[in-house]
Amino acid sequence: MDRGRVIGLISGKGGVGKTSLGVNLGIGLSEFGQEVTVVDADFSASNLGVHLGKYEHPVKVQHVLDGNSDPENAIFRHPSGIKAAVSSNEIHHVEPEAGNLAHLLNEAAQNSDYVIVDCPPGLNSTVEKVMESCDELIIITMPTQTSGINAAQIIEKAKQMRQPILGTVINMSEGEPDRELIQREVEMMTESDTIAEIPYDEKVKESLFQNTPLLKHEPLSEASIEIKKLAAALEGVQYEEPRFAGLKRKLNNITDTLKK
Ligand SMILES: Nc1ncnc2c1ncn2[C@@H]1O[C@H](COP(=O)(O)OP(=O)(O)OP(=O)(O)O)[C@@H](O)[C@H]1O
Ligand SMILES: [Mg+2]
Repeated sequence: MDRGRVIGLISGKGGVGKTSLGVNLGIGLSEFGQEVTVVDADFSASNLGVHLGKYEHPVKVQHVLDGNSDPENAIFRHPSGIKAAVSSNEIHHVEPEAGNLAHLLNEAAQNSDYVIVDCPPGLNSTVEKVMESCDELIIITMPTQTSGINAAQIIEKAKQMRQPILGTVINMSEGEPDRELIQREVEMMTESDTIAEIPYDEKVKESLFQNTPLLKHEPLSEASIEIKKLAAALEGVQYEEPRFAGLKRKLNNITDTLKK
């Protein structure tokens, strides 16, 4: 296998959907037959394990970064089909040797088509080291002034660092031009092209609450379809939306309402 692509998911602002996208984009790519490893690089507020359904694994990313374990011990196969490495939540692990991340990512890339790196929010020396360790970056933002401004900052930094940028994902968009930025405005603010626009979708929160990644929990949800389209675009293939997806989604919603 050729060395896989190491793609970092970054955002200036926190809470914009990096971890949700990391897990589900990974699953989307694996559904196209790709071997994917998702690596948790959010050392101070790790929650990849939670997004994987409160998944626990004894060897954490920090054990590798601190030189106490080998990368292969931290990487495990998740029931969804992707591989993952999660970070520790222990407070003595919040500032590991982030400069060693490239070694872990390189090892992961030897046995994967894609390594997706769930980055910490903000812009500091740890984030810079994480960005440096990736081959390519995807920026996640919401269609708000605040997250747009912070996305623009991180994009400027990435450009300074000459890190290749695949583009911006606008997440949680509600299609309300009176109270949120439209795609063109986000592009002007960030000086980056949009590669996906994922709607605000209650199913994302529901899936997290039910400990099942969105693409497994509700594969026909609007957000799932957009994530699959992004996976297809990365793979350079045409995505065929499942037949009657909209109709099936409406029927599922009616069934859910009746159950309540
Ligand atoms: N498209 C969406 N529609 C609705 N809710 C969403 C969507 N994407 C993410 N969320 C919700 O937003 C919250 C934040 O998502 P997530 O944890 O993935 O963000 P993050 O960028 O990784 O945050 P942090 O910076 O804290 O790591 C979660 O409750 C998640 O379920
Ligand atoms: Mg996160």
